[in-house]
Amino acid sequence: MHRRGFLAASLATVLASPRALAQMKTDGMSNMRGMDHAGHDMGAMGQGPVALPQNQPLRELPLLANEAAGPGLFKARLTAESATARFAADRDTPILAYNGISPGPLIETQEGDRVEITFANRIEGEPSTIHWHGMPVPADQDGNPMDPVAAGADRVYAFDLPEGSAGSYWYHPHPHGRTAEQVYRGLAGAFVVKAKADPIPAAYGDTTLFLTDLRLAADGSMPENTMTDMMNGRVGDHVLVNGQKNPRLAVAMGTKRRLRLYNATNARFLRLAFVNAAMTLIGSDGGLIEAPVAADEILLSPAERVELVVAFDKGTATLTTLDYDRGWMGPGRPEDKGLALLTADVSDTQAEPMPPLPERLRPIARFGQPTVSRRLVFTETMAMKPTGMEMGFLINGMAFDMGRIDIVAKAGDTELWEIVNQADMDHPFHLHGTQFQLIERERDGKVSKPPYLAWKDTVNVARGETVRLVTRQERPGTRMYHCHILEHEQLGMMGVIDVQA
Ligand code: C2O
Ligand code: CU
Ligand code: CU
Repeated sequence: MHRRGFLAASLATVLASPRALAQMKTDGMSNMRGMDHAGHDMGAMGQGPVALPQNQPLRELPLLANEAAGPGLFKARLTAESATARFAADRDTPILAYNGISPGPLIETQEGDRVEITFANRIEGEPSTIHWHGMPVPADQDGNPMDPVAAGADRVYAFDLPEGSAGSYWYHPHPHGRTAEQVYRGLAGAFVVKAKADPIPAAYGDTTLFLTDLRLAADGSMPENTMTDMMNGRVGDHVLVNGQKNPRLAVAMGTKRRLRLYNATNARFLRLAFVNAAMTLIGSDGGLIEAPVAADEILLSPAERVELVVAFDKGTATLTTLDYDRGWMGPGRPEDKGLALLTADVSDTQAEPMPPLPERLRPIARFGQPTVSRRLVFTETMAMKPTGMEMGFLINGMAFDMGRIDIVAKAGDTELWEIVNQADMDHPFHLHGTQFQLIERERDGKVSKPPYLAWKDTVNVARGETVRLVTRQERPGTRMYHCHILEHEQLGMMGVIDVQA
């Protein structure tokens, strides 16, 4: 059994002392409120979450239009700015949006394409960037916190998508100290790179389901992060699919659909099941796996993606959440099982017969023997300082420092990374600039190998667990790695790797 460690013990002490609690405040967390209530802001009067309309037809994400004249080039503009959304029927919510909408427009390109996207930062008074999560783009085009785009400024992000890079990526801001807030206020979108020769039957369609997490105060606004949010990561009151709560999808009996599921929440772990429909896993963060795998449930930690084929041949089917214990700190653990995220109405009329899924999807190259190995230890700390309570989310004992290089690597080297979680919470580990392969997981001395090979850029490292992965950076430059609970990233659980040519 994993023992509850330092943060849990310190937190227990703090919670036992109301005076300490009242004093709790932390440097660099100016937006934080005390933890004198459950931390979950239930609206101004405390009468529970604002109700959202449900059961509306599922909206496909609007596509970002390609302004390029010829083939092989994708050219567009993304403007980040304040906007107003209507989540609840009768009140406005101020949000941040890309091109006026949240989630942002779906970017769809093909492997081999060149991409040129002009980013216009029109967020008042805040720097931002666009990070292309999971994508093989040059380091200086990847929206690092070291390359901010000032409020009011424009910049062009340009990169070529190599052959074989088809996958389910996404884009979101990555400015220093502001990523968590800009994302929960609405800035995130899906970026799908399509394969030139796609083995998945076109008859299955291709639908992106972008999952986000919303908390609304009684007046329709989004409350700022509380102490509980900073500690656990912000978990909202409503999980939305393409911006909608429990929308409905109409399909004919016998339909198979290809679905890309994104966990674009700041901090919510989604253990998912499809009640009354069979799921087959066909892809991970970085594209198709080698062969389809039947799946009863899928754990999608923050920032992870999967591609599924879902067979609707029984009747009404529901994408629902199951219970998952990710090591919640303090009071206010959200109810996370039994949320209906999407409901499929399956008609009695039989669909046209669907072509079968091929037995092999694509080969995945194995890495050779690693020549370098690294060990990253994740810890949490909490200390009473004269200025108030200070929490630390650390990698190898250090909090993020933009001016410090934590790892120097060489482009083209195959590396073994060992991520050791000695903390009390699960931490989804993410590495920029490349995709990696999971080798094994170890917990309480028990080693388990993954059942299939997959390209990943984010992997959950459960509390007390060690994850070993193999990776290679092909391009020189500075890259980030961090916990993708965005509040933890903000509090220091991030490092810098300098890849040299
Ligand atoms: Cu999704 Cu450092 O990013
Ligand atoms: Cu990333
Ligand atoms: Cu974390």
